Amino acid sequence: MGQAIPYFELNTGSKIPSVGLGTWQAAPGVVGNAVAAAIKLGYRHIDCAQVYGNEKEIGSVLKKLFEDGVVKREDLWITSKLWCNNHAPEDVPEALESTLQDLQLNYLDLYLIHWPASMTKGTVGFNPENLTQPDIPSTWRAMEALYDTGKVRAIGVSNFSTKKLGDLLEVAHVTPAVLQVECHPVWQQAKLRAFCESKGIHITGYSPLGSPGTETVKTQVLKNTVLNMVAEKLGKSPAQVALRWGLQMGHSVLPKSTNEERIRENFDVFDWSIPMDLFVKFSEIEQVSYLSFFHGWFIERQISGGWFVHETFGAYRTLEELWDGEI
Ligand code: A2P
Repeated sequence: MGQAIPYFELNTGSKIPSVGLGTWQAAPGVVGNAVAAAIKLGYRHIDCAQVYGNEKEIGSVLKKLFEDGVVKREDLWITSKLWCNNHAPEDVPEALESTLQDLQLNYLDLYLIHWPASMTKGTVGFNPENLTQPDIPSTWRAMEALYDTGKVRAIGVSNFSTKKLGDLLEVAHVTPAVLQVECHPVWQQAKLRAFCESKGIHITGYSPLGSPGTETVKTQVLKNTVLNMVAEKLGKSPAQVALRWGLQMGHSVLPKSTNEERIRENFDVFDWSIPMDLFVKFSEIEQVSYLSFFHGWFIERQISGGWFVHETFGAYRTLEELWDGEI
């Protein structure tokens, strides 16, 4: 493993490995081992973010893996994300420098605007009083300037609705290479996917397993009956089938795990496929059922973005506004 990991080609011409290790909620002290185990197993794509609070530890592990000759920098794909408190154009290069320093790298393969929501510079956490009006066109111009320097080899966005992505395309000189969003068999993102396909934007799916075990999880992707029927027929685990579904839909996927066995299991999705007669069954999976409740809204998403919604502060009064109805 490790030689020829299937990849997707981006509109920049670069090749994003199709399975990456998610590191959100991978606790400091644990995340480093997970990253090392994954890379030794053949993973070549690690998904990071400044706000996950673990980039320093990941950086130390990467340095050691490079020094020990386990992997070369150029064979890895490292993504990170600009946090909401650094959206002012003058803060964007500083935020990148800080992430590069933490990760001990001199470039990123992909840098994303993490959310279409802004916060006051220097603030931490999710106090609504820190929410400000985003100016995505200005932030994107700063991202484009970073792209021009070569310190980020591709740029994109995360958690944007179809409308917000469309608005961005109207002003963008550089089309986002990637949109990273929640995506799994119970939240398939049909509208967004059609839009991205028409614009040549690659989708990376986060929470591809539906984040089993987290408190807010009501979607229970891994318990879905279609998924389990397919898994049983193919002799694979539900998690493997959920990931393979994503790959066959044309998405890269970011399963998060800090458990070596599950890290291995999640990477064993390349030398088999879901046959078409079973694959089509996924289109029958119920996408609309009341799964989660937030401030008067029933929503399907796992990651609602409710942190960015407030009746007084910031840009979004309701989740409807944050997601432009795609909830
Ligand atoms: P753990 O880190 O203990 O493996 P998602 O990527 O959809 O957000 O899901 C992440 C969650 O799913 C984590 O709690 C992770 O726990 C768990 N997980 C990761 N891989 C598997 C798997 N193959 N089967 C079941 N649960 C998994």
